[in-house]
Amino acid sequence: MRISKKTMAIAGFAAAALMLSACGGGDSGSGDGSPSTGKKMRLALNQTEEHPSYVALDHFNDYLKENTEGWEIDVFPNETLGAQAEALQLVSDGSVDMAIVSGPQLENLNADFTVFNLPKVFDGVEHQMSVINNPEITSELYASLEDSNKITVLGGFTQGARSVYTSFGPITTPADLNGKKLRVQESKLNISMAEALGAAATPMAYGELYTGLQSGVVDAAENNEVSYFTQKHFEVAPYWSSTKHLVGLDYLIINSKVLSGMSEQDRAAFDKGWTAAYEEHTTLWAEATQEAIDGAKAGGAKFSEVDDAAFTEALTALAAEYITNDTQQGLYDAARAAAK
Ligand code: GCU
Repeated sequence: MRISKKTMAIAGFAAAALMLSACGGGDSGSGDGSPSTGKKMRLALNQTEEHPSYVALDHFNDYLKENTEGWEIDVFPNETLGAQAEALQLVSDGSVDMAIVSGPQLENLNADFTVFNLPKVFDGVEHQMSVINNPEITSELYASLEDSNKITVLGGFTQGARSVYTSFGPITTPADLNGKKLRVQESKLNISMAEALGAAATPMAYGELYTGLQSGVVDAAENNEVSYFTQKHFEVAPYWSSTKHLVGLDYLIINSKVLSGMSEQDRAAFDKGWTAAYEEHTTLWAEATQEAIDGAKAGGAKFSEVDDAAFTEALTALAAEYITNDTQQGLYDAARAAAK
C-alpha cells in the first residue's frame, strides 16, 4: 500500500473500526440513520489521489457542499480505511458510510452481481455504462443488499478493459500462463477465470499486489492500464499483454440508513451530483488510460498484443457455468441486448 498525505494520520482507523465491528458496536452513527461523523460521510477508496475515481469523487464532494444542507464526502484513498473486503463490512455495519468496491466483492454477498463481472458481457465502456445506469435493468439488483446488509448500490465507475501483465515475459495465448501464479480479485468467478486460463489462481487484496509481484508470491496479475500505472505495478511486472478479457466495474455503495437519512431535497441533489461524478469519471477514464500507457512505457513497460481468439475460447464456458438462475439470465440478456 502506498502512503499518501492522509495516510499517516488515520492509519489506525481501520484497525479500530474493525475491532468495533467485531464487538458489534461499530455502528456509531448508523443506528439513528445519520453518518458516523454528522453529515460528513467517510468514503473508503483503494486508489491513489491521481486516479480518476478519487478526482471525480472529490468533485462530487464539492457539489454536495454547494447544493445540500451540509452533506459532504471525505474520500480516504489508498486503502486507509481498509482493503475492499473490509470496507464492504464497514459500510454494512455503519462505521464507514460509503465505499468504492469492485464488482467481484459484491458477488460474495449476492451471486447475481456475478453476471456483470463475466468476461465478454460488456463490449466496451460505453456499452457497460449504458447498462449499469439503466434502472430498468439494475434497480432490483442495486437494492438487493439493503435488507440483508444495509448496503445500497448507487451505480458504478468503469474500470475499463482488464488485461494480463507479468513479471516473466509477454504472453500470447493462455498456454503461456500455464502453472503461473496469477493474482485475481477475491471471488469465485475470478478464481475460475484464472483456472480457465491454466494459471494458479491467487486471490489477494489490491494493496498487497505490488509486493506480491516484487517478491514472486505471484508471477502475474490482471487489471486496467490506469491501475497498472498508478499502483506502479509496471516496475515489478513490466510485460503488459493486451488480453482485454473483461470490462471491469467499480460500484459506489452507501450504508442504506445513511442514505435514507437525507431529506428529499438533499437526496435529489445527491443523485444529481453522483450522475455528474460518473459522467466526469468516464471522460477522465479515456485520458487517464492514454497517460497510463505513455507513463508505463516511459518507465520501461513493454506492451504487446495477444491471440484474442485463444483467450475468448478459454473463457467462453464461464458464462454458462455462472448463470444459474432466472435473475442472472435476465441480467445477462438485458446487458447483451444493449450491445450495439
Ligand atoms: C481496479 C479496480 C479496483 C479493484 C482493483 C483490483 O483497480 O478499480 O476497485 O480493487 O482493480 O484488481 O483489486
